[in-house]
Amino acid sequence: MCRSIVTQGFSAPLKGEILTPPDKSMSHRSLIIGSLTKGKIKISNFLTGADCLATLEILKELGCEINFLDKNTVVLNAKNAYMAPKKELYCGNSGTTMRLMTGLLCAQNFKSTLSGDVSLSKRPMKRIIEPLSLMGANIKSNDNKAPLVIERGKLKGIEYKSPIASAQVKSALLLAGLQTPDGTTTVLEPHLSRNHTEKMLQFFDADIETFTKDGLFGVTTRHSSLTPKDLNVTGDISSAAFIMIAAAIIKNSDVIIKNIGLNPTRTGLIDVMKRMKANIEVLNCDLVSNEETGDIRIKYSPDMEGCEIGGDIIPRLIDEIPIIALLATQAKGVTVIKDARDLKNKESDRIACVERELRKFGAKIQGTDDGFIIEGKNGGNALFEGNTEVESYHDHRIAMTGYIAGLISEKPCKINGFEWVETSFPNFLNIFENLRK
Ligand code: S3P
Repeated sequence: MCRSIVTQGFSAPLKGEILTPPDKSMSHRSLIIGSLTKGKIKISNFLTGADCLATLEILKELGCEINFLDKNTVVLNAKNAYMAPKKELYCGNSGTTMRLMTGLLCAQNFKSTLSGDVSLSKRPMKRIIEPLSLMGANIKSNDNKAPLVIERGKLKGIEYKSPIASAQVKSALLLAGLQTPDGTTTVLEPHLSRNHTEKMLQFFDADIETFTKDGLFGVTTRHSSLTPKDLNVTGDISSAAFIMIAAAIIKNSDVIIKNIGLNPTRTGLIDVMKRMKANIEVLNCDLVSNEETGDIRIKYSPDMEGCEIGGDIIPRLIDEIPIIALLATQAKGVTVIKDARDLKNKESDRIACVERELRKFGAKIQGTDDGFIIEGKNGGNALFEGNTEVESYHDHRIAMTGYIAGLISEKPCKINGFEWVETSFPNFLNIFENLRK
């Protein structure tokens, strides 16, 4: 059911301290990689967004026992993993579920079918089908799109040079490689994509090494058995991004965001905000379950400047680009975002949709083949007039970007399809209401 919400003119300053919602990428992996331990583990700070719940339901169907001790604590018992599913495995809106589960399932002795919603059924799956097939996987698809039908294959390790930096591709291959007694599996990528899979596999004592070679980023794994251990998921910097950027652009805001995951493969936004001269400070760094974490203090930043964003940093902030585009409208001068062509393959075509929706607010934004050119403020005030109605295109990050744009608009704005926010950030509105009190 389509849910619309309406923002009510300029937001009051955001003030106070909040805890970052749990990380989506790590929550998926905690269940998927946790199930490979074939043991019993407790996962704390698990994200109960719709995407991760899709992964959870699929693993239950495959024979894992999964129970909640409280809202964000899960006990996974994988001793019966994996049994042939009795029904189609539905991944909902979640590309991570489909791509990682394909890597896991192609090593099993049974047939399984992975399906998804309208958005997921349009997303490219060739990027995993091709390399997994080179390993010997038997995957049938609808012209390289979902549904994917996976049947028993005989896998062998390969070295695969991925043309794109994609954590989902890398993870699918590593999950298959880990279950393959025949040979080693190596993935090489042109830039380092998020490395939660590698870090979590190390945490569970898998046989895995990372390296750099000829300017490429590599990882090699072998058939390994994993040690069951309790795991703590860190906070999601991609969710915190909406609060960080809202605090930077809403007058007189001052917010401390606690327990943000600070894995360097995810912190491109912090680097960019520092470069743009935002008022941002990282505090209390720590290491939790082999992942860096810390707090961030962020204050209203009226003197930000546009900058160029491209190259190696793109995979480190890929999911933050819709909200960075909004940030750029509030900085002085021009911001250029390039080398981000894969934005077209996310939950929506994020180049076309971000351009279309931010233009409705009056933003001076031009989509390009691989990013955006955004003209920010020219000295004075760049806040929006409002009275705008935006669409979400089945994409949580477009819905949340529309909402933050509404907070810097004078008149009310309507955001349609707000239910998509549930995929990654179920208490989004509560957090913003609490910070405004
Ligand atoms: C993810 C990887 C990224 C990211 C997605 C989550 C993951 O995609 O955009 O939201 O959890 O592995 P890529 O596979 O393109 O890196």
